[in-house]
Amino acid sequence: MRAGVFDSGVGGLSVVRSLLEHRLFDEIIYYGDTARVPYGVKDKNTIIRYSLEAVEFFKNFDIDTLICACNSVSAYAIPELRAKAPFPVFGVIEPGAIAVHNTITNKDAHILILGTRATINSGKYQHLLEGYGFANITALAPSLFVPIVEEGLFNGPILEQAMHYYFKDLAQAPDVIILGCTHFPLIKDAIGAYFPKALLIHSGEAIVEHLEGHLTLEKQKQKTQLKLFATENPEGLKKVAATWLGLEKGMLL
Ligand code: SIN
Repeated sequence: MRAGVFDSGVGGLSVVRSLLEHRLFDEIIYYGDTARVPYGVKDKNTIIRYSLEAVEFFKNFDIDTLICACNSVSAYAIPELRAKAPFPVFGVIEPGAIAVHNTITNKDAHILILGTRATINSGKYQHLLEGYGFANITALAPSLFVPIVEEGLFNGPILEQAMHYYFKDLAQAPDVIILGCTHFPLIKDAIGAYFPKALLIHSGEAIVEHLEGHLTLEKQKQKTQLKLFATENPEGLKKVAATWLGLEKGMLL
């Protein structure tokens, strides 16, 4: 099976990492729109337009499914992509909300959603969680986290200050935190240390479970092979992939 993974930039590699660990696919084609990242500050129509261009890109490859790693795309563009794509399309928001539903039985649990402005403003996580009966939801868009992660500052004083800035006014510590942006799993240790009692939900892990439930997938014997494409600076994407994914010889095509 060949999967396409689409993201606004390099952050979607956090989802690829989970897919590689579970060896669900023979091959993954990754397309990062690095020339136009971030999507999280763009409006709905722009995100849909860029996402439809990604579908056109993936039509050149014989993919069996398309995974939208970007939460901002998952928030706004999934119906349009499904209408245009000749392959099944999955976003990461629904799997994230289902993961909360399947794990948390206490409907009064305080759920903190962290996402980009687009993801939070779409209300998609909030709507799905409310549908599952959760009533104690806080949604935050800690926009500074994205450039901090892009700078590789996964811990340290700058990230600490940014976390304090966004989290200091929370009336109640969260029981569950949804890492609703591709970049946030990369700082999950720091967020987890700030809220040591909270359960962290990571899109990459949630989508793996979701795909296993929706596609006929068998664990591959061989390691998944990866093809990386970027709309700008593909070498930069490959460098980040080498660091984040710990790629072994022969995995990168
Ligand atoms: C972004 O492109 O702004 C971050 C990716 C995401 O929304 O998950």
